[in-house]
Amino acid sequence: MTARSQALTMLRALARKDAGGRILHHFATDPGRIQRMGVEAAGLYLDLSKQSWSAEGFEAALDLARTCDVEGRRDALFAGDAVNNTEGRAVLHPALRAADGAGFHALGEPVSAEVDAVRAAMADFATDIGSGAETGGAKQPFTAIVHIGIGGSDLGPRLLWDALRPLEPVIDLRFVANIDPRDMGEALAGLDPETTLVVVVSKTFTTHETLANADLAKAWLAESLSPRRMVKHLVGVTAAPDKAEAWGCGRTFGFRDWVGGRYSLWSAVSLSVAVALGWDMFERVLAGARAMDAHFVEASLEVNAPVLLAMAQVFNVEGLGRPARTVAPYAHGLRRLPAFLQQLEMESNGKRVKRDGSPVDTETGPVVFGEPGTNGQHAFFQQIHQGPQVVPAEFVVVGHTSGAAMDAREGDAPLWSNALAQAQALMLGQTEAQARAELVASGLSAEEADRLAPHKIFPGDRPSTTILMDALTPEAVGALLALYEHKTFVEGVIWDINSFDQWGVELGKMLAKAILRDVAAGEPSAGLDPSTSELMKRLMV
Ligand code: F6P
Repeated sequence: MTARSQALTMLRALARKDAGGRILHHFATDPGRIQRMGVEAAGLYLDLSKQSWSAEGFEAALDLARTCDVEGRRDALFAGDAVNNTEGRAVLHPALRAADGAGFHALGEPVSAEVDAVRAAMADFATDIGSGAETGGAKQPFTAIVHIGIGGSDLGPRLLWDALRPLEPVIDLRFVANIDPRDMGEALAGLDPETTLVVVVSKTFTTHETLANADLAKAWLAESLSPRRMVKHLVGVTAAPDKAEAWGCGRTFGFRDWVGGRYSLWSAVSLSVAVALGWDMFERVLAGARAMDAHFVEASLEVNAPVLLAMAQVFNVEGLGRPARTVAPYAHGLRRLPAFLQQLEMESNGKRVKRDGSPVDTETGPVVFGEPGTNGQHAFFQQIHQGPQVVPAEFVVVGHTSGAAMDAREGDAPLWSNALAQAQALMLGQTEAQARAELVASGLSAEEADRLAPHKIFPGDRPSTTILMDALTPEAVGALLALYEHKTFVEGVIWDINSFDQWGVELGKMLAKAILRDVAAGEPSAGLDPSTSELMKRLMV
């Protein structure tokens, strides 16, 4: 038995034991629990004390992290080794948010000078658009940006914009991802081509949806602008600049293949956001992420926020067979966080083979879903409280949301008090006796109270993590997203999978092309499965 399988066996055994106790009991028997399981990192505070683990379970999780050499693998990532082993690539998103002159290397090649140069070009572009020095083809200042991209070329920048945008932005930034033309139609509605900048974001510059949308946007510009003027309105952000230029971009901002799509928001992928927010704000996002990088590299495992967050997930998935997690950000500005995490975590860790290609010997990445609070409470939280499956929850709680314009009423307490109450309710539950007493106190007869009490039992002991942010500042948002990136990486190390490829998205893309060929030919090809064939026939009429 390897040291890793021994550590896994220990974790599973202790998790089973811990599941037999109650979380509240752990507080009673372990006075140091809050201190041990509450960590500060880059301005965030994580409370992992409402997880199911006892002090021993927690130690077993840390021991597993040590045994899997999380620190060594982390150092290899920061050193620019070929961590993405199926594609032979370094994984260096931290280089994108490092201070100028940081000295990162990818597979031995220095990369920081190029990162700094792109960043300086982005800063100039953002400043020049803000000042009006950079204009459209008709010398009019830009008042709107249409950002076209999908997956990692969409979710991170969109999240940043939602989280940090002013209530009345100077630049009207709109995002288009879906190949449904309605998405583009909505984005272009009311815009003036003469004052609109189109930013096409695609690492590969081959993504079907993005290129189809880019063509639509180009055609829309061409209705009003001559080809000579139009180039000033078309900017590409890509790791394939020759493709972007061949397509018609007047200017491109680059990044390298060592930036994974879902880890790319720190690069020129966020150009449109940097322009619309202003360069200083974007730099502050990078600074927040940089602070989380420093914490991840320097903090020892037992107080390392990304490591502990990852190990809580591993404890739930691997130890307790809980294959899902819900994330509820209690801030309107973070409403896209669940969507961002779905790509980050499920595209990174939804894998069935280990790094060496052999089948995994553990569970891997769980299903992640969520909604902002308090909206989710009025939707799926019923199931989280009383459904038969235990779904661990994660509450991202913001002391001061950016809704400062609404600072009348009771401030932000109505929002965050709900998050705290949900986490408390999940842990405490409600017994049948408590339910009955409450019903009787509300005036029901003993008979009625007996009849209804079973419906009002909450089993409790449902685990949650709470992540606190003082305010929705650029630094805090940067730190939060970097926290999740590193957490995802640590899980991949424990499960021994490559978190940085995504072969699972390719088969569907290939089959969609074949279906489109059939559509062009006017009929399903021979040998197509009967279900797909029938559906196609119905859709082709
Ligand atoms: O299909 C999945 C994916 O490859 C993601 O990994 C990526 O973020 C997205 O498509 C967009 O890719 P690109 O930036 O190359 O257009």
